[in-house]
Amino acid sequence: RTRAVVLAGGSGTRLWPLSRKHFPKQLVDVLGAGSLLQMTVRRLQRLADVELAIDESPIIVCGAEHRAVSAQQLEQLGIRARFIIEPSGRNTAPALSLAALHALEDGGDAVLVVMPADHMIADVAAFQRAVAVASRHAERGAIVTLGIRPTRPETGYGYIEPGDEVDGTARKIARFVEKPPIEVARSYLASGKYFWNSGIFVVRASVWLSTLQEMQPETYSACSAAYEAGQDSSGGYKPHEQLFEQVPSDSIDYAVMENLARGGEVEGVVVPLDAEWSDLGSWDSVWDALGKDESGNVASGRVLMEDANSCYVRAESRLVTCVGVSDLVVVETADAVLVVDRSRVQDVKRIVGRIADQQ
Ligand code: GDD
Ligand code: MG
Repeated sequence: RTRAVVLAGGSGTRLWPLSRKHFPKQLVDVLGAGSLLQMTVRRLQRLADVELAIDESPIIVCGAEHRAVSAQQLEQLGIRARFIIEPSGRNTAPALSLAALHALEDGGDAVLVVMPADHMIADVAAFQRAVAVASRHAERGAIVTLGIRPTRPETGYGYIEPGDEVDGTARKIARFVEKPPIEVARSYLASGKYFWNSGIFVVRASVWLSTLQEMQPETYSACSAAYEAGQDSSGGYKPHEQLFEQVPSDSIDYAVMENLARGGEVEGVVVPLDAEWSDLGSWDSVWDALGKDESGNVASGRVLMEDANSCYVRAESRLVTCVGVSDLVVVETADAVLVVDRSRVQDVKRIVGRIADQQ
């Protein structure tokens, strides 16, 4: 049995002013096809041409302040999700551990398809095929990640050096390097060998937990203690607040993936995903992910442009007009407007940092 786990803890400050503290990007309809959370869950519903028994109730791990809207958005799709409510964010390793502990208790040792809530994947059929291959390897005890062919020396991602072929397209993970410095990222890109880690992991609940226990015993026991002492509330399962606050912050990548290739019991496997993946980390990647007009512009809402090139312009509540500009991002909302050069979109978080409560 396969079960979706969605990690929906992010705040996504770089997509401000659309993404807000209390309404982060996974809840926003960034691409015009439903919220990113809805798109994420739908991606594993309606399986087209793969044989995979997907549990109909995905596990969503998120903060208390986002649970109600998340549940409402999924109910709109007719999906009754199981929520795990984090008292505070402890990064992805504890978040996945809570989901794994929950899955074990609730129906057995499922293969978990762990997905961030804020990615875009254009080719859903290709994604489902990759998940089906990954599930086969997870079923027999491997920890699997979906790998993306890199297109730039991105320093915010993990890099995977594939080793021996396991079968078909799947390869062993020979090396996993999380967020390398730029020179290293450049050399990985130039070698043509490496994959990016998509951040989509496929693993059996029990395998994740025993691997974490072996590699990070402290994180494992702190998580289990917080889970055991937790309780069901009307909205979902809540681990014990004080105990969860004692869990060390750690990511799946640093806690486990980097150590996998260094030997040990568990095998790391990478399955290539060729499906126009984007992690929508900034406004530039949103522009990149969407179809453009003949001048390279992407417009959404009431927008008029004259002699504009390669711009992303989004109007939520008013008419937005642009004349004679290029490579700009303009995002208008009822109470805030962002104008930023496309090459500076990473710096949007600096503005957000200066706004006391991010609204
Ligand atoms: N529930 C929950 N709780 N979710 C969380 C938490 C948490 O404490 N922390 C992060 N997440 C969610 C985020 O919302 C995001 O969707 C996902 O987990 C990944 O976290 P990021 O913080 O965005 O990780 P990253 O972008 O630095 O790196 C990861 O993703 C890259 C691809 O986008 C790594 O897996 C990299 O190796 C990978 O290349
Ligand atoms: Mg990310």
